[in-house]
This record gives sequence, C-alpha cells and structure tokens, in this order.
Amino acid sequence: MLVAPSILSANFLELGKEVESICKAGADFVHLDIMDGHFVPNLTFGMPILSQVAKVATKPLDIHLMVENVDFFVDYFLPLKPRFVSVHIEEVKHLHRTISHIRSQGSSPAIVLNPHTSEQELQYIIQDVDMVLLMSVNPGFGGQSFISSVIPKAQNLKNLILQKNPQCLIEVDGGVNDTNILALKNAGVDIVVAGSFIFDANDYKKAIDSLK
Ligand code: DX5
Ligand code: ZN
Repeated sequence: MLVAPSILSANFLELGKEVESICKAGADFVHLDIMDGHFVPNLTFGMPILSQVAKVATKPLDIHLMVENVDFFVDYFLPLKPRFVSVHIEEVKHLHRTISHIRSQGSSPAIVLNPHTSEQELQYIIQDVDMVLLMSVNPGFGGQSFISSVIPKAQNLKNLILQKNPQCLIEVDGGVNDTNILALKNAGVDIVVAGSFIFDANDYKKAIDSLK
C-alpha cells in the first residue's frame, strides 16, 4: 500500500518541518488539498504556500483540486510539476480536454469521485487517466468518519480498470486509518490518503508503517 499524507492536518505553524518529517517517515507522496470555498465549504492554501512546500518536499506532489474553475487552477499549479493532478468529475465540463492538457504538461491526470458518484461514470474516460481518487468522506474537511460504501465501489472500479486500463491506480481519501486499511487493500486500492490518522499520531513513521 502506498501512503500519501494530507498536510491539511499538519501543524501549519511548522509546515516546512512537518513536510520534511512525513517524507522521512516513509510517505510515498505529499497530498495537497486545494479548496476554494465554493466547490467545498472551506479554504486552504494557494501558490505562495505550495511553492514553499514543493521546495522542501522530497516526495512527489499529489494535488487534489476541490475548486470551481478547475481549468484555471490546473494551469496555475502545473508549473510545480506535481506527479498527480486530481480533478472532480462533478465539476469539470470537458473532462477529456482537461485530462489531456494535464498529461501534455508532464503530470499524471486523475479523476476524483465524490461518495455519491458512481464508478460507472468513468466508462468512457478510464482509458485516459493514470489514477482514480475515490472520496470516502464528503470533501472539505479532515478528521471525518469513513463512508464504508467506498469498499464495494473500489471493487467495482477495480473490475472496470482490469477490463479497460490495468495500469490505472486507485486512491482513496478520507477517514482512512488502521481499522479500514485492510478492507481497502483487499478491494484493490493502491494508494491511501491519510491526514488526521498520521498527523495526530506521536510517531509519524509508526502511523505510516501501520498503513503499509
Ligand atoms: C478532505 C480531503 C482529505 C483530508 C483527509 O476533503 O480531501 O485529503 O485531508 O483527512 P483525514 O484523513 O483526516 O480524513
Ligand atoms: Zn484530499
């Protein structure tokens, strides 16, 4: 299992040290939650902070865009050369165009599904993405409880992926901890995002290892 700690739950007064710590503690990616106060009822951070984070991160960036005007923000953050840029299917009008653009700029495109959105929506686009991110909470906040219907959804998605694009990864985000990780693994999930489970722990390495 690959682990992408979400810095949403980090101590922002010590952000540089926090990013260094999770990278040293075995993080595979650094998950960055961009919220605009419109697509979700919360605001996080923008370029002035992310460009500093990118300088100290020794692991690839995994950007999760919870915003309106997706194409504007895609272009805004692509210069950071993130490994993944994830866009919500619920917000993007011309998904194929947005995804092709992300790929043309050297990042891996990913599509995010909210808890209520069916994996069947991906039938005609799954061939074109490198990852699908399944939300296991309603996006907007860290520290929420895990919505367990993501497990059968991940299994169904895995079947679709095996038929249409076996290279495509599955990532799950929200409420992930050491009690649901095994079910996620068994459902075919490749990467988990974890915020509060890691940053609330005294020992980040132990927390990351327990998920792995
Ligand atoms: C929620 C964010 C998540 C969040 C996860 O909208 O996308 O990445 O930080 O936090 P936890 O692991 O605490 O649910
Ligand atoms: Zn996220």
